[in-house]
Amino acid sequence: MSYYKILNLEHYFKMYKKSVREPRKFWDKIAEENFTWYQKWEKVFEFNFSEASFKWFVDAKVNITKNCIDRHLARRGDKTAIIFEPNNPDEEALHISYNELYDRVARMANVLREQGIQKGDRVCIYLPMIPELAVATLACARIGAVHSVVFAGFSASAVAARINDCECKMVITSDGSYRGNKSIDLKGIVDEALEKTPCVEKVLVVKRTNTEVTMKDGRDFWLQPLLDAAIPNNVAEVMDAEDPLFILYTSGSTGKPKGMVHTTAGYMVYTAYTFKNVFAYEENDIFWCTADIGWITGHSYILYGPLLNGATTVIFEGVPSYPDFSRFWEVIEKHKITQFYTAPTAIRSLAKESLDYVQRFPLKSLKVIGSVGEPINEEAWHWYNDHVGGKRCPLVDTWWQTETGGIMISPVPFVTPTKPTYASLPLPGIQPVLMDELRNEIEGNQVTGSLCIKFPWPSIARTIWGDHQRYKETYFTAFPGKYFTGDGALRDEVGYYRITGRVDDVIIVSGHNLGTAPIEDAINEHPAIAESAIVGFPHDVKGNALYGFVILKEIGETRNQDNLAIEINQIISNQIGPIAKLDKIQFVSNLPKTRSGKIMRRILRKIAEGDFSNFGDTSTLLNPEIVDEIKNGRV
Ligand code: WT7
Repeated sequence: MSYYKILNLEHYFKMYKKSVREPRKFWDKIAEENFTWYQKWEKVFEFNFSEASFKWFVDAKVNITKNCIDRHLARRGDKTAIIFEPNNPDEEALHISYNELYDRVARMANVLREQGIQKGDRVCIYLPMIPELAVATLACARIGAVHSVVFAGFSASAVAARINDCECKMVITSDGSYRGNKSIDLKGIVDEALEKTPCVEKVLVVKRTNTEVTMKDGRDFWLQPLLDAAIPNNVAEVMDAEDPLFILYTSGSTGKPKGMVHTTAGYMVYTAYTFKNVFAYEENDIFWCTADIGWITGHSYILYGPLLNGATTVIFEGVPSYPDFSRFWEVIEKHKITQFYTAPTAIRSLAKESLDYVQRFPLKSLKVIGSVGEPINEEAWHWYNDHVGGKRCPLVDTWWQTETGGIMISPVPFVTPTKPTYASLPLPGIQPVLMDELRNEIEGNQVTGSLCIKFPWPSIARTIWGDHQRYKETYFTAFPGKYFTGDGALRDEVGYYRITGRVDDVIIVSGHNLGTAPIEDAINEHPAIAESAIVGFPHDVKGNALYGFVILKEIGETRNQDNLAIEINQIISNQIGPIAKLDKIQFVSNLPKTRSGKIMRRILRKIAEGDFSNFGDTSTLLNPEIVDEIKNGRV
């Protein structure tokens, strides 16, 4: 009986039960039968929730790139591993076979070593969606360097903060990047970031846009000549199952971004298993995930999951609106995509445009369509299901997080019946529970609560880089003995889950996870501003948009408020990135605060949404009179 592949609903329930009753046996079989190991494990797992300690495939030795590349060469050497679809549709797409991928990764790995990178060193990768991004990431994993991919839309100060937090020795970047009809000066951003990063010794630069850049002597090197001179063979480093594979930063509700650490073997096993099942992957499929490799979705389902299964995966450099709103559908048709995985915000933005953009394409190659990043509303679900999936492709609404490493709750296509807006059932190995405010587990169906996971799974993040205490406090303190997701959820009458959204101060804007605190910190740096509070409010396309309540230092500040608003967004753009800009800014004389000085965001959220019906209990407010002022001044 197959453990790796879920065959039908009965088999799903059987496997699910097995994964709960005999988790060691379940994961032992999957790990044993589907990967190449230098050395097997002593124990499948050991864990301690109160210490936030998790180990999987204890003492096993493995290299994930051997499993992503070398293992396939005998049978699939000439098969396309990566299709690169450039920003400009007139530029030719590139097909990189597994043999070529081996050659490229081996050379890159050798370059990294020659440039002084050793096992355990951190390397920051700040690249657009070009093949070099995949190659650099895999090359790090090849030699045991820890990759920290930073999304190439982040600003110089956000890049600097991420480089310094984990003390990267090297940055890999490009001269520039293309996005639609714009190009961005990436090297310039890196140069600015590196003014504040003493740990960086070397910068490798990919040529992409041929824009002029400044190269600092002894620090900056063009990558191509180094690759040309490198040997196209490389022996993969032997890694311990629990050696860190990568760090990926995600926003928290407070403080600086959290460097989530994922380790090698558990991440490998879980991303491979979930890719296979959530996308019903079969040998000749062509898989396209439109995320950026700078997010966990790209790590797990553009790179590792597909390559571990020997699949063909697409790297798309462009945006859905360039040259026009049919780009996604055109690419699906061009490369005969079988699985298409995107975000609700992209769907909503395309659903606003003429139906003709999508109806011009038959999209007959598609088998499965997927959604990720935020709750998908009913309207978007149907549009996607009807016009892209043609009502014949199962739509998998996949719930997971940077911290979970892989998909946790999702339909299995052709197995689990889908239900609009529901992520449906947990995958085998995942034990979700809903908790009430008194920290009791809510049993039964048709209930809502805080979503926790009560048993570890192989790809759970192991720590926050440099701050295990914060890891413990953020995820394992609110509900002792469980992992707290930060999301609320509803369980329907048959046990299907619907994720209702964040219950903390994280706001998801266009699928980007943004913490309120860093944005407020940025705003408060403006010399005219005393204090600010950010909340989310519903937005047709972005899901949520940001609303800022801002207190000026001097009552009667004479400067033009429109100019101040522009300056505020400029600061946010510089400090964090354009994705965190505010849609609305309201200047207020004060914020609703409790006696202990805590801002009552619940009230601000209601005002931002335009819902003045019931502010709930305001008796603990120190300044209840402010509520009316803010309400009347809503923008
Ligand atoms: C948060 C995690 C890993 C995916 C990319 C985002 C929200 C994610 C869904 C979904 C409802 C979802 C949650 C989660 N989210 N997928 N299918 N339905 N909400 O990763 O940046 O770590 O964000 O995204 O709120 O906690 P992330």
